[in-house]
Amino acid sequence: MNVLIIGSGGREHAIAWKLAQSKKVEKIYAAPGNGGIAELAECVNLAVTDIQGCLNFAKENKIDLTVVGPEVPLVMGMVDAFEKEGLKVFGPNQECAQFEGSKAFTKEFLMRHQIPTAKYKEYDDYDTVLKDLGVFGYPMVIKADGLAAGKGVLIVEDEKAARDGLEMMMKDRVFGDAADKIVIEEFLTGREASMLCFVDGKTIVPMESAQDYKRAYDNDQGLNTGGMGTYSPNILFDDDVLNQRIQKEILDPIIAGFVKDQMDFKGILFIGLMIEDGNPKVLEFNVRFGDPETQSVLMRLDSDLYDIMESVINGRLSENPIKWKKEAAVCVVMASGGYPGDYQKGKRISGIEKVNDCIVFHAGTKIVDGELVTNGGRVLCVTALGDTIEDARKTVYDNIVNISFEGAEYRHDIAKL
Ligand code: AMP
Ligand code: GLY
Repeated sequence: MNVLIIGSGGREHAIAWKLAQSKKVEKIYAAPGNGGIAELAECVNLAVTDIQGCLNFAKENKIDLTVVGPEVPLVMGMVDAFEKEGLKVFGPNQECAQFEGSKAFTKEFLMRHQIPTAKYKEYDDYDTVLKDLGVFGYPMVIKADGLAAGKGVLIVEDEKAARDGLEMMMKDRVFGDAADKIVIEEFLTGREASMLCFVDGKTIVPMESAQDYKRAYDNDQGLNTGGMGTYSPNILFDDDVLNQRIQKEILDPIIAGFVKDQMDFKGILFIGLMIEDGNPKVLEFNVRFGDPETQSVLMRLDSDLYDIMESVINGRLSENPIKWKKEAAVCVVMASGGYPGDYQKGKRISGIEKVNDCIVFHAGTKIVDGELVTNGGRVLCVTALGDTIEDARKTVYDNIVNISFEGAEYRHDIAKL
């Protein structure tokens, strides 16, 4: 089979790495891919937003399966465009991608199906929201409804900050159309955790759990990022009572809700949870694999990912149990100096060949004149398996010191339990 992977991050490298192990997969292409993916796949210079270009490429190259990694093409309707032409594609359609493309859409779904979540109100008018400042008390959570590259959530401490935030979103339009509508929410406290699930329209199957570290710098001292590291399994889910509650109060009603609302959700549902005193509540949905959760989780997947993706598309997920390795996994992200703020690109990367017992997934790299250089904020994801989380952690940190590029930064406390 020929597979086309849409995307260029560490997540897509991990997906390519896992699909390459399938006996059924003969050739992998990636659009646009990166310096690491290029070792497994033929990278083609097409943007993830170039739906027509990707579609033409898939037809011309007899692609049997296209896997859409990031949210933007999903929200733009890439899956619908492929399906319309009779091409097999992994990911939710445009209607279902609204679970990531619109916070209000998700909140309405959660309320309609009585799934626990923070109280909320939605607005499309600046003057009306001003009348409601602090309705849920402070801190107040303000969210741009649409996609804002992970930056559209503000947590403000008082009325002045709320006014400033709303002005920035709704008057200055810093997030553009994404804040035409906004959602305000009750502030939840507790521990945050995410769950990645395969969904085939009628069955939802959670993957092994992972913990993401969202902030830059050790001890969460830096700003929010896309994710600086992960480990799997997440010790938070060692609790059977919690797992049963998540199944009963969250997963079961989600899938029943999809069926009732006649939404044919097929692909990955990423559920962001807040857990306080054993009570799980949904913070958000994403409609794609998490990055860098995927790097840890796919290292632990024993089953064939191509088979799983096919069973998702064919609505046969319940027929074959998914097998996982017993070992734990740890992934540490090496980032460009300054990330998530301004950073430089084009720095030469050296030492990857000195790394042992790890898989180095590339996030932001490219090859220029035969040399591997940095090409993004998150650059590499050094990932290892171990009998325990501590073993996997040791392998990653013993090896990461071999890799260097100017300004490289990484957290030293990933999976330090
Ligand atoms: P979201 O994109 O909706 O997950 O929001 C991004 C981040 O903001 C989350 O990962 C949480 O850390 C935080 N957050 C979102 N909603 C809430 C809430 N209602 N209460 C507390 N923190 C929140
Ligand atoms: N690591 C969080 C995300 O992928 O959204």
